[in-house]
Amino acid sequence: MSREEIFGREEKLVEEEGKKGCGYMGKIVSYPGGKYEEVGSIYMDLTSPHCMLVLGKRGTGKSYSLGVMAENFAKLEPEVKENISVVMIDTMSVFHGLKTKNVNDYEVNRLKDFKGLSPKGFGKDIKTFMPKLALEKYDKGERPDYDHLLQFPLKEVGANEWLSLFDLDTTDPEGIALMKTVREMEKKKEHYGFSELYDELDRQTEGKTRESLKNFFEQMESLKIFTRKSSSFDQITSGGNINILDMSYLGRLKGYDVRNLLVSIIAEKLLKKRTLFSTLEMQAKAGMLDSDLKKKVTENPVVYMVIDEGHLFLPKKGDTISSEILLDWVKLGRHPGLSLILATQEPGALHESAIRQSDMILAHNLTAHDDIEALGKARQSYMKEGKDIQSIVSKMEFKRGLAVLFDDKTRKMEMCRIRPRMSLHTGMDASAMPEESRKESFKKKKPPKIPSRGSS
Ligand SMILES: Nc1ncnc2c1ncn2[C@@H]1O[C@H](COP(=O)(O)OP(=O)(O)OP(=O)(O)O)[C@@H](O)[C@H]1O
Ligand SMILES: [Mg+2]
Repeated sequence: MSREEIFGREEKLVEEEGKKGCGYMGKIVSYPGGKYEEVGSIYMDLTSPHCMLVLGKRGTGKSYSLGVMAENFAKLEPEVKENISVVMIDTMSVFHGLKTKNVNDYEVNRLKDFKGLSPKGFGKDIKTFMPKLALEKYDKGERPDYDHLLQFPLKEVGANEWLSLFDLDTTDPEGIALMKTVREMEKKKEHYGFSELYDELDRQTEGKTRESLKNFFEQMESLKIFTRKSSSFDQITSGGNINILDMSYLGRLKGYDVRNLLVSIIAEKLLKKRTLFSTLEMQAKAGMLDSDLKKKVTENPVVYMVIDEGHLFLPKKGDTISSEILLDWVKLGRHPGLSLILATQEPGALHESAIRQSDMILAHNLTAHDDIEALGKARQSYMKEGKDIQSIVSKMEFKRGLAVLFDDKTRKMEMCRIRPRMSLHTGMDASAMPEESRKESFKKKKPPKIPSRGSS
């Protein structure tokens, strides 16, 4: 098994840096004459800007593969890692396990076969952020471990974002009063809390309009996400860490799309910050700046935003609060160094630009007609030896962890077996079977067959 392939990296960079800044994803497999063979190793570039899709129907390994990528970020060379910030939007609380070493016997046994890897928790690199309200729902003593509260300074929400969240128009009396109030606050205060916002609302409006806006804001206040100041907010984008934002509790809270609002705030802030910084970098390269930018690079790391259930944030139909800014990332993210990795069960429900602009696709098994057709919108360049992306993915055997990786930069396409996790995957399928009998059946059951080299 000698072949080594690096996906997502241009040849020039491969020549200069080899595998530095890459992550080991697993084995290249092939089926010559119907026989399963492992023919090489697959690596993925983690330093250049990417727009990547991770696709596959329910239970085919998307979140698991995202976990493998997160481990790979944590395993990067320190001097590369400190220049990267990974923000993971966790919609199902499946990434907390990255802190703990894998104890699943079957996966641990297989791990050795993937470059001799062994179980490992990444507690030092992984930082988890939990909403206060979600923590309060747990009984004392049962609260999950976490690093930071998921809290945003109130001033980070702009008037337009409130308008979208509350579904108000700029011509509605409520919309007009809201814009005036928030803009007034922005002028007056660096930081403000809800009580000051209510005082300003009293100055700007009265009667029913005031009541309905106050009602909106009170609902937001009760979520305990927006506060006057937040010591954890800047940590979300800190370099050298994998920051996991647990949004599983925040679906459509009180009928509002709070998750989308939070993603939009982070994405907007990062786009501004990175655009300013890349201009500085360019000027420094051109000799127009005296200052040494080295320190500033680690303060302004390039960003990978990883979104599980990406179609919720960038859907094909209808706008969400986060749609516009995520589209900016997709279209403009290369220059400021903003990468997006979107996982979805339904590529057919994802915005077409994300599919067309993607430079890498990791496709697990898909069968629905609409989803396979959506994949076909990814570029023609993925065609190889007369086989197109759609027919490969639809005919692919269903095996968890088996996927096809496509790379637009290098025009490569390989079938691969994603490696087992070093840390614990906590997105296991739920079962009504009592714990004990499940353990017994796990012992009795032969693990899923992984054909060894040369077997059929
Ligand atoms: N590379 C792999 N190696 C070993 N087991 C795997 C691999 N990928 C997935 N699995 C197994 O498949 C199960 C389902 O994977 P995962 O939770 O990632 O599915 P999913 O595609 O995210 O599903 P959903 O769309 O429902 O969120 C995991 O619990 C794990 O046991
Ligand atoms: Mg999943």
